[in-house]
Amino acid sequence: MNIVELIRKKREGAAFTKDEINFLISSYTKNKIPDYQFSALLMAVFLKGMTKEETAALTEAMLYSGKVINLDSIKGAKIDKHSTGGVGDKTSLILAPIAAAAGINVPMISGRGLGHTGGTLDKLESIPGFRTELSLKEYKSIIKKWGAVLIGQTKDIAPADKLIYSLRDVTATVESIPLITASIMSKKLAEGIDGLVLDIKTGSGAFMKETSDAVELANSLINTAKAFNKKVIGFITDMNQPLGNYIGNWLEVYESIKILQGEFKNELLDLSLNLSGAMIFLGGKASSIEEGIEISQSLINNGMAFQKFYEIVKAQGGKVSFIENPEKYPKSKFVKKIVSKESGYICEIDTFSVGMAALELGAGRMKKEDKIEPKAGIIFYPKIGDYIEKGMPIAELYCESAKKVRPAVQRIYDAIKLSETKVQKPELIKQIIN
Ligand code: URA
Repeated sequence: MNIVELIRKKREGAAFTKDEINFLISSYTKNKIPDYQFSALLMAVFLKGMTKEETAALTEAMLYSGKVINLDSIKGAKIDKHSTGGVGDKTSLILAPIAAAAGINVPMISGRGLGHTGGTLDKLESIPGFRTELSLKEYKSIIKKWGAVLIGQTKDIAPADKLIYSLRDVTATVESIPLITASIMSKKLAEGIDGLVLDIKTGSGAFMKETSDAVELANSLINTAKAFNKKVIGFITDMNQPLGNYIGNWLEVYESIKILQGEFKNELLDLSLNLSGAMIFLGGKASSIEEGIEISQSLINNGMAFQKFYEIVKAQGGKVSFIENPEKYPKSKFVKKIVSKESGYICEIDTFSVGMAALELGAGRMKKEDKIEPKAGIIFYPKIGDYIEKGMPIAELYCESAKKVRPAVQRIYDAIKLSETKVQKPELIKQIIN
């Protein structure tokens, strides 16, 4: 097979055969197709799409690019959650310890920042010493002992996704239903799970801006999970504003600690409780999602969820003194506080721009080789429907380089629209599909 022919074939809108997809994935994973040709191919897929059959074949090829883990030797249900990505979306850090404290095994393979959205691995690696690259043996032993483990794709597990994901991140080829489906499901099916809770985001900070596209993505993900005999629940949730107030890697760990300690109560907590509630339900430890939510809340109240987070960080090599005393984390060189120039009701937040501002401050990557700055990011206060007075704080920006401040400030001002009349708050959970 010829890569140039295959790029041309997709460019003209034709469907690949299963063999062609197997060839593409296996050749790229073995480094036999250069990035520039695979980028062109990804762009052709992005523009022309894929059929259901192609998506299934792509998922399978990416899944079997590595090992499929067998966790049968570990007792109890193995349930994971995956989000399609958003700004300030840190629910994994909160719900993994909650579900593990409830007796569910959570074997989580996550991704890094993608486009304007953050990634669980980058967030965890902001904790000094935290290792996200574990051997299969360590992965199994941590899950057995502590009930949860959070790692990245490796050369053994979903290696095709590891490579393609980082290429999509810097080639504007993320927002594609077949590519997202294959990326998410190849990782998740490799984990050895019994069930999966999916958080499909929609709105200005999501890859799917329209709810109808989010529903289409949800169905694509759910059908794939079912085809592999996995129990699955999909949540369609709002991403028209950052989730919680903290955006950026360490800042998000900080907010997660405060949520797990019961100090912060906001829509991030509500969503985390719903998702962990669904995991506990799927894992058979609750008779409904509602009961799972109650169990989750009680595990925050009695300190067990925070204790579990501490144990997981310790087991994966993270410096726990920062978990015990998050205020001791090193401070950013530059902190810029921004206040509102006008009064009014917040009616719109361009959450994509807020995510891009955080990325440009150092929280994400523009090129594959870029290094993340763990302290960089934004504390972003306003929520849609809030009334703000002129002069009230709207955000704090954190970074290591003075020249990054001004463009980020401008992005934040441009992202917020005010109205003189009252505005309804967006519905956090728009739909639950199971
Ligand atoms: N999350 C993933 O793991 N992959 C995507 O493509 C998007 C979100």
